[in-house]
Amino acid sequence: MDEILLDRDAGVLTLTFNRLAKKNALTPSMYAAMADALVQAAADATLAVVVIQGHETVFSAGNDIGDFLQRTATTGESPAFQFLRAISTFAKPLVAAVCGPAVGIGTTMLFHCDLVYAGDNAAFSMPFVNLGLCPEAASSYLAPQLMGHGRAAEALLLGEPFLAETALEMGLVSRIVAPMEVAALAQRQARKLAAKPMRSLMETKRLMKSAQAAVVAQRMTEEGQSFARLLLEPAAREAFTAFLERRRPDWQSAAKLDS
Ligand code: COA
Repeated sequence: MDEILLDRDAGVLTLTFNRLAKKNALTPSMYAAMADALVQAAADATLAVVVIQGHETVFSAGNDIGDFLQRTATTGESPAFQFLRAISTFAKPLVAAVCGPAVGIGTTMLFHCDLVYAGDNAAFSMPFVNLGLCPEAASSYLAPQLMGHGRAAEALLLGEPFLAETALEMGLVSRIVAPMEVAALAQRQARKLAAKPMRSLMETKRLMKSAQAAVVAQRMTEEGQSFARLLLEPAAREAFTAFLERRRPDWQSAAKLDS
C-alpha cells in the first residue's frame, strides 16, 4: 500500500502519511514521494494549494529511526533534504492538519506551512539533541524567531514537547479543534484559498517570506552538514539502537567509543 496517499480535488492536492503501524515515521521513499508531489504541484496550474495530514491519533513520529541507523556517509542530497528544500521553497499556500504526536521533522516541516490546524491532542517535539543530532529544516533559526530564545531552548536543547495551546499562542498553529474535525477544517480552508486568484496568493506568500528566504536556505544547508556528520557519530548510533531496543541510551558507553 502507498505510504503517501495523494488525492487531488478542486485545486487542492492532499498528501496523507499512511504508515500508521509505525506512527507515520518517514522513510526515504516517503520523502521522495512528497518531494516529487510538491515539485509537480508547483508546476501544475490546476493546483493552487497543498494540504499535508496524518491520522487523527498521530501526525508523524519523524524520521524512521531504523533508516537513520542504516545511513552511511553519502554524497549528494538525501530524499529528506530534497523534501525540506521543496517544502521550504514551495510558492503556493501549504496547509497542515496535525493531530497527536508531531516529532522531529513532523514539527519542523510545520514551520514551512502557512496554515496549521491542530487537534487538541497535538503534541509537538524536536528531540534532536536527545538523539545525538541537531536541528534541521532551518528550525535552529525559525524556532527562536517564533518562540523567543528561552522557549526555543527548552524545545531544542532539552527536547521538551509543547502542546497545541502553546503552539497556538506562539503562532505556529492557526486554530485548535477536536481531532475528528481537523482534516475537514483544513480542507475547507484549503478550498477557500483555492477559490482565490492564484497569482495574488503566490505573490502575497512570496512577500510574507522574502525577508527570510535566503537565511532559511543558508541555514538549512549548514544544519544539513552538521546533521549528516552527527548521524554517524556514536551518540546518535547509541540513541537509535536504544530506541529500537526499547531502552534508555547509554551515553557513557557511546562517549567511550567517541574518545
Ligand atoms: N522510527 C521507526 N519506528 C518508529 C518510530 C520512528 N521514528 N516511531 C515509532 N516507531 C515504531 C515503533 O518502533 C513501534 O514499532 P513496533 O510496533 O514494530 O515495535 C511502532 O512504531 C509504535 O510505536 P510506539 O513507540 O510503540 O508508539 P507509542 O504510541 O507508544 O509512541 C511516539 C508514539 C511517536 C511518541 C513514539 O513512537 C516515539 O517517540 N517515536 C520516536 C520519535 C523520534 O524520536 N523520532 C525521530 C525524531 S528526529
